[in-house]
Amino acid sequence: MSFGTGKIWMNGALVDWADAKIHIGSHVVHYGTAVFEGARCYETPRGSACFRLDAHMARLFDSAKIYRMQPQQSKPDLHKAVLETIRANQYKACYIRPIVYRGYHTLGVNPLPVPVDAAILLWEWGAYLGQDALTNGVDVCVSSWARAAGNTFPTLAKSSANYANSALIKMEAISEGYSEGIALDTAGNLSEGSGQNLFLVRNHTVYTPPLSASVLPGITRDSVITLARDLGITVREEMLPRELLYIADEAFFAGTAVEITPIRSVDKIQVGSGRRGPITEAIQQAFFDVINSRIEDKHGWLEYVYAGEPRQAAVAGARAARA
Ligand SMILES: Cc1ncc(COP(=O)(O)O)c(C=O)c1O
Repeated sequence: MSFGTGKIWMNGALVDWADAKIHIGSHVVHYGTAVFEGARCYETPRGSACFRLDAHMARLFDSAKIYRMQPQQSKPDLHKAVLETIRANQYKACYIRPIVYRGYHTLGVNPLPVPVDAAILLWEWGAYLGQDALTNGVDVCVSSWARAAGNTFPTLAKSSANYANSALIKMEAISEGYSEGIALDTAGNLSEGSGQNLFLVRNHTVYTPPLSASVLPGITRDSVITLARDLGITVREEMLPRELLYIADEAFFAGTAVEITPIRSVDKIQVGSGRRGPITEAIQQAFFDVINSRIEDKHGWLEYVYAGEPRQAAVAGARAARA
C-alpha cells in the first residue's frame, strides 16, 4: 500500500483514507495548532518492528504539553493505537505519522476551548533523499533562513507551526539546486536541516549542536550519539560555528526520514574526501544493523508488531510471569 490507501485512525476509529477528513474551519488549518511525530516500522528478518516508538510517543506528549494540549487518549493508549493501526493495514514496513491537533469549535486565536483531536496515518516511505544519497551523500547549502530564536517557537516541540520555517529552508535549497539546507540559529551557530539533525566529524571526534541551538531533540540524533559512544567514538554536543562545516572531515544528517545520510558538499565546498567518510559509515552500519535486527538490540529499541514476533512474545511472556 502507498500514500493515499488503507485505514487511518481518527479519535479511536479506523476510517478509510478517503474519509479521514476535517472541517475547513478547524483551528489547526488556520493557525498550525498541531503537534506530531514521524516514526518508522521496519521489516526485519525477525518480523516487523517499530523503531523507538516509546521515545516518539514521549516526544509527542512533551510537544503537546508545551502547547497546553491534553490528548483525549493516554500515552500508552495512543502507542497501542499505532500498533493496532499497523496491524489493521497489515503493513510490513511503513512510516508512522501520529498527529494531535486542535479541531473544530471556534476560530478565535485562543486554542484553549477547541477540542484536542488525534489521528494516526501510515504510508510506505523509502529513502527520503533517495537510495543513492545513503551511500554517496548529498549536496547541501547553508540556508539564508535561520531556525526560530529561543523564546519564539519552541523547537523542543515537534509542532506543525515549526514546519513553516522548515518549508522555507527546503524550498530555497531546492530552488538553488541543492538537496537540503542547513539552518543556523539566530546567533549564527549551526543548528539543523529542514527536517534532520546535523553531525560533523573532525579529528575523529563527532560534534553535534546542542538542544539550545534551536534543534529538534531528534530520536535518531540520540540513537547516533548512543551508537557512536558504543563504538568508542567521542561525541560532543556544543555550539558550532558555521565555518566548521567547510573544514570538517565528514558531515552527515540524522533523522527518521533521512536515517543517516552523508553530506558530501556544503555551498559547493567539498566536505572531506567528498564521499561518505569512515566514521559516518561505521555509525550508519551500526544503525542499519539495529534497524534490520542484524545485531542484538541491546538498547531495546525495536518493538515487534505482529503476534509471534520476538519482542511481542517476550513482553507477553513477562506479563504472564508477573500475573
Ligand atoms: C526539524 C527536524 N529536526 C530533526 C529531525 C530528526 O528527528 P527524528 O530523528 O526524531 O526523526 C526532524 C525529523 O522529524 C525534524 O523535522
